[in-house]
Amino acid sequence: MKRDDFGSDFVWGCATSSYQIEGAAGEGGRVDSIWDTFCRQQGTIRDGSNGDVACDHYHRWPQDLDLARSMGVDAYRFSIAWPRLFVEGSAAANEAGLDFYSRLVDGMLERGLQPWATLYHWDLPQALQDAGGWTNRRTIDAFAHFVDHITRRLGDRVRHWITHNEPWCTAFHGNLEGNHAPGIRDLRTAIQVSHNVMVSHGRALQVIRANVPDALAGITLSLHPLRPASDSAADVAATARHDDLRNRWFLDTLHGRPYPAETIAALGAAAPLVEEGDMALIAAPTDFLGVNYYFPEVVADAPGEGPFGLRIVAPEGLERTAFNWEVAPQGMVSLLRRVSSEYGPKVIYLTENGSTYDDVVNADGSIDDVQRRSYLQRHLAALHEAMGHGIPVRGYFAWSLLDNFEWAEGYLRRFGLTYVDYSTQERRLKSSGLWYQSFLKGDSPRLSGNISPS
Ligand code: FCB
Repeated sequence: MKRDDFGSDFVWGCATSSYQIEGAAGEGGRVDSIWDTFCRQQGTIRDGSNGDVACDHYHRWPQDLDLARSMGVDAYRFSIAWPRLFVEGSAAANEAGLDFYSRLVDGMLERGLQPWATLYHWDLPQALQDAGGWTNRRTIDAFAHFVDHITRRLGDRVRHWITHNEPWCTAFHGNLEGNHAPGIRDLRTAIQVSHNVMVSHGRALQVIRANVPDALAGITLSLHPLRPASDSAADVAATARHDDLRNRWFLDTLHGRPYPAETIAALGAAAPLVEEGDMALIAAPTDFLGVNYYFPEVVADAPGEGPFGLRIVAPEGLERTAFNWEVAPQGMVSLLRRVSSEYGPKVIYLTENGSTYDDVVNADGSIDDVQRRSYLQRHLAALHEAMGHGIPVRGYFAWSLLDNFEWAEGYLRRFGLTYVDYSTQERRLKSSGLWYQSFLKGDSPRLSGNISPS
């Protein structure tokens, strides 16, 4: 398998997000986001940490962009921190925030990296949360306002825009499970958030189209192939119920269909309040669908458990990452085939894919992360297989350029192709990063180590 096998216009990239890497939490006029607040609450983050410093990317970005360039990627997916631009009660945006992203984008262009900007990767300004967050439709207006400012400033240089990263996580980790900011546990809130976030996606698209005429814009969903824990009719039905909320809730509505009827019926009073015009906004045409693929899920019927009477189970004997996520490159193939045949998106980008393992730094400083390297290699092989089935995948972004702040897991989970020593902020390519680098240089590097490709 070589880079060329994917075609010369295939986009190779790596991804990060603002709160996970920037640090400089109190600099440049940045205000608090819901993640700053959440991290301050006792017991929310497994190692008690926060993103105050993270990878200090706010100061070290030239070095990080050099690193991305040295890896040989074409594109760098980053996110804009809304709290760096937000001025409470004012129509004006914070110039220091706009300048930071403007310099960052110039830095990418100088290094031959295409900037791919995500507009919302979970760091909602706290002041908006205080007024109801995404349940308050004024947050949709505020988002459109923020998007207007940033697209006006960067639209002459940034062509690729992603409105939201993983709205499922925004809604359900943040507002049903409560394990992400803002830490709410309420089904009705979560459902309304999911709807309003999707409406804000549609509003953002309108703004992008108006301000950046040649923009290529889309949304990134976290999607999961699902299978029942057994052949029983109950497990099969539970899997369908889970699919309705996990995948279809977003895919159907983006493609002009209503919310899955059975879910709406099951939600009863927790069903979303939908205003006239909302569904058309959500279904406005995009230029691509972003898919983040990490792992499949296995679903069992569990009467009385959670709002939908089901449970995600972890069968024994399957290969898993340190996060307990099943390693299933074939799941990526089946997911992409499904998305392509049921929804027919013109273009798909794999906007995230990656793995976490407990890295060991050898005495000579090297990090031989054989499992992450194998994960990467096997998922690229799967992607290539999917393309062979005619699925229009046109790019791949590895998660992540750097080890970073992994949300509720703090710094305990490392997803980087580059190791970050948080005590010195030194960066060092892991063997997975070196493998990606030589792959991107056009070599067909072989895997070594004891994990063979499937
Ligand atoms: C995704 C998120 C990303 C990162 C990876 C591991 O769900 O988009 O920020 O945390 O998982």
